[in-house]
Amino acid sequence: MELAHSTAELDAQLIAAREQGRKVALVPTMGALHKGHLSLVQRALAEGYFVVVSIFVNPKQFGDEADFGDYPRTLGVDARLLTDAGVDLLFAPGNSDIYPPGVELKQPQAGEIGQKFEGEHRPGHFDGMLLVVNRLFDLVSPSAAYFGEKDFQQLVLVKNMVRQQIQSGEREPLKIVSCETVRDEEGLALSSRNIRIKPEHLAAARSIYRALSAGLAAGSNRERMLEAAKSELDPITRLDYLELIDAESFEVLAEAKPGARLIIAASVGEVRLIDNLVIGDA
Ligand code: PAJ
Repeated sequence: MELAHSTAELDAQLIAAREQGRKVALVPTMGALHKGHLSLVQRALAEGYFVVVSIFVNPKQFGDEADFGDYPRTLGVDARLLTDAGVDLLFAPGNSDIYPPGVELKQPQAGEIGQKFEGEHRPGHFDGMLLVVNRLFDLVSPSAAYFGEKDFQQLVLVKNMVRQQIQSGEREPLKIVSCETVRDEEGLALSSRNIRIKPEHLAAARSIYRALSAGLAAGSNRERMLEAAKSELDPITRLDYLELIDAESFEVLAEAKPGARLIIAASVGEVRLIDNLVIGDA
């Protein structure tokens, strides 16, 4: 695996790959890699791309300085995992590569969907996320980029941004590939934040997936689904939201339909977790 710490090093590697006729895929991450991230990487590799993984803890998508400071940083271990996985290039830029001093980057708009749920609870988060994802797309010009369904609202916002950019001719075709959520043996969605869950809070964290599953099993009526889900949630979890939504508009649905999502955000101790499940065909 090659390592690029700057945009100049990135450019050199991309030119070499493209000279060999390789198509490039990007897997954007903030590091502290786990099997969820690696599932994206494996899928991109299996689809034959020259795979670039970026690791950048993006200050602009954190509301709170402490959360940014506390975010786990494990670059050495991450690099080893990516080497073992067979990744072609790790791009681990510094802040000034992503946000060059004196350059004002165009801010993509998160729109109406960006104001809901995560947008409401984490003001500015999606603007920061879209800013960095758009910057990474500009730097790498990938043919495909891989995102996890765990961060479902993020995935939809990135898809919408890219669709608009392609339609307006601002961007070359770029396929956004969505990948299923990887979970631990009890269903807890893997997340870089999980290493901060205290042992005494683990059972509560795991109740989040049980709640979503109970919601899905309760039929298609929203009230009944939410009630069933809430009854499974450990009482020490602090719920930000739990809702049945349309997967495109993020409007609340009174009745579930195939493709809709049950979404949740809740904190256990200091750690805020999000998850969702898709409503299957009846
Ligand atoms: P991060 O949380 O590191 O996640 C990087 C990618 O891995 C995202 O697409 C996320 O949805 C995916 N992912 C995380 N946990 C997963 C799991 N358990 N199963 C499947 N995929 C999972 O999301 C971000 O970083 C940032 O917002 C980023 C897009 C890199 C922009 O800074």
